[in-house]
Amino acid sequence: MIITTSSAAAAAAAVAAAALALLAPASARNINADYCKHAQTACIVVGPTQKYTTIQSAVASLDDTTPYTIVVQSGVYHEQVNVTRTGPLTLRGETTQSEDIAFNTVNITWSAAAGTGNNLTDNAYSSVLTVAPNLNASLTGSGPTGFPVLPNNPFGNVDFRAHNINFENKFSDHSSGPALALSVGYSNSSFYRCGFYSFQDTLYVGKLANAYFKENIIAGQTDFFYGFGTAWVENSTVVLRNCGGGITAWKGTNTTFTNKYGVYIHNSAVVRANSSLAITGNAILPAGYIKWSATDNRINNQTFMAEYSTYGPGFNATARAANAGIGMVLTHAEYSPYSSPDRVFQFPFTSVEGNTAWLSGDR
Ligand SMILES: *[C@@H]1O[C@H](CO)[C@@H](O)[C@H](O)[C@H]1NC(C)=O
Ligand SMILES: *[C@@H]1O[C@H](CO)[C@@H](O)[C@H](O)[C@H]1NC(C)=O
Ligand SMILES: *[C@@H]1O[C@H](CO)[C@@H](O)[C@H](O)[C@H]1NC(C)=O
Ligand SMILES: *[C@@H]1O[C@H](CO)[C@@H](O)[C@H](O)[C@H]1NC(C)=O
Ligand SMILES: *[C@@H]1O[C@H](CO)[C@@H](O)[C@H](O)[C@H]1NC(C)=O
Ligand SMILES: *[C@@H]1O[C@H](CO)[C@@H](O)[C@H](O)[C@H]1NC(C)=O
Ligand SMILES: *[C@@H]1O[C@H](CO)[C@@H](O)[C@H](O)[C@H]1NC(C)=O
Ligand SMILES: *[C@@H]1O[C@H](CO)[C@@H](O)[C@H](O)[C@H]1NC(C)=O
Ligand SMILES: *[C@@H]1O[C@H](CO)[C@@H](O)[C@H](O)[C@H]1NC(C)=O
Ligand SMILES: *[C@@H]1O[C@H](CO)[C@@H](O)[C@H](O)[C@H]1NC(C)=O
Repeated sequence: MIITTSSAAAAAAAVAAAALALLAPASARNINADYCKHAQTACIVVGPTQKYTTIQSAVASLDDTTPYTIVVQSGVYHEQVNVTRTGPLTLRGETTQSEDIAFNTVNITWSAAAGTGNNLTDNAYSSVLTVAPNLNASLTGSGPTGFPVLPNNPFGNVDFRAHNINFENKFSDHSSGPALALSVGYSNSSFYRCGFYSFQDTLYVGKLANAYFKENIIAGQTDFFYGFGTAWVENSTVVLRNCGGGITAWKGTNTTFTNKYGVYIHNSAVVRANSSLAITGNAILPAGYIKWSATDNRINNQTFMAEYSTYGPGFNATARAANAGIGMVLTHAEYSPYSSPDRVFQFPFTSVEGNTAWLSGDR
């Protein structure tokens, strides 16, 4: 288990795993256009010979509130997808084995990055998939607290889900500015057997965002996970495509209530992309987490960066212990408040736990 919560943080962390048991896997499921005939919600199909040939045109055709499923037929879709509606929406990629990410056949690709030398004024514009009610809700902004939470900004999607889809930001083959595969703001979202591929800032879970990732692949080089909201990563693979950047870089949110905003990586593995990459012992620093910078007080006493029950070649207990004060290796009792989605997903603007209704059931 890797935890980074509150304020800003940069980290290189160990191969992660923790003791909780998993639910039994769902039975094999063949997803294709026929799925819409027996879907539990209104349902439409996107594909090269369908009425809607792009995912965004299908999303744009929906009203704001009716629960919908969109089945996406096999193929590569080069487009940005932007979900602003509030009603439940599930995207399902065509597959013969929905319980195994290796059988995914749908890729959504885009190529864009923000930052010096690139043309985008905010990271938000680079993302392959955005789930946020409006532009303000998706902006990263700058500095420790980023673009502010606006008092009257509405919430976005109450229950967005994606199954069996790869999201690839192909801007570059190395870190060269924030190039998001996913951006979530002011919304609930969950991702099952999805792939997220970029080199910098692959996943953005922003202000008032909840995001749950199960059996996903998240690939990158620098700051794979960043944001201000709450992300739980379950039974997933974090793929290092090169060295030189943090795995987590959480900024947290300044609130008047106790919050557990942060990223929680649970029962998961950190691996290199392939054996031809010169990534060895230096991929995970022996000490684990590092400070964002030597002097930046956004993190140096405001960030909680911790591990519980991690193991593998990237875990050096001696060096971790010597790093106390920056990163922490938790006892079971210390880990307990962060040990499940129910403990970390809180209701907006309160410290009340158990905001997980959007995780239950299957659509
Ligand atoms: C789809 O994405 C995966 C993951 O990046 C990649 O391995 C595969 O080659 C892509 N497929 C196509 C047809 O581009
Ligand atoms: C930025 O925009 C200019 C003008 O449209 C274009 O020539 C240039 O290629 C763009 N740069 C990037 C990195 O996209
Ligand atoms: C998403 O769509 C909304 C509504 O059209 C728009 O205001 C917003 O700028 C878009 N978001 C991004 C990141 O482009
Ligand atoms: C977006 O935020 C700015 C404040 O930075 C505000 O002036 C503007 O009205 C907001 N836009 C919307 C559509 O709420
Ligand atoms: C998320 O889910 C909770 C209930 O689990 C709900 O109260 C909330 O409205 C949903 N949407 C957002 C954006 O929080
Ligand atoms: C290894 O992974 C890197 C990063 O994803 C990629 O650029 C490279 O092409 C891969 N090499 C092989 C041989 O697959
Ligand atoms: C946090 O918010 C409070 C007001 O709620 C403000 O006084 C304080 O300056 C803020 N701190 C930072 C680091 O933004
Ligand atoms: C997923 O969970 C199973 C059962 O706990 C475990 O064997 C497997 O290694 C996990 N996968 C990853 C990527 O950690
Ligand atoms: C910790 O925060 C306090 C203010 O809350 C600040 O005065 C101090 O410099 C910070 N220490 C470090 C090491 O950043
Ligand atoms: C573990 O860390 C200690 C202290 O930093 C160091 O002396 C030792 O060489 C490290 N062991 C490995 C296998 O990296």
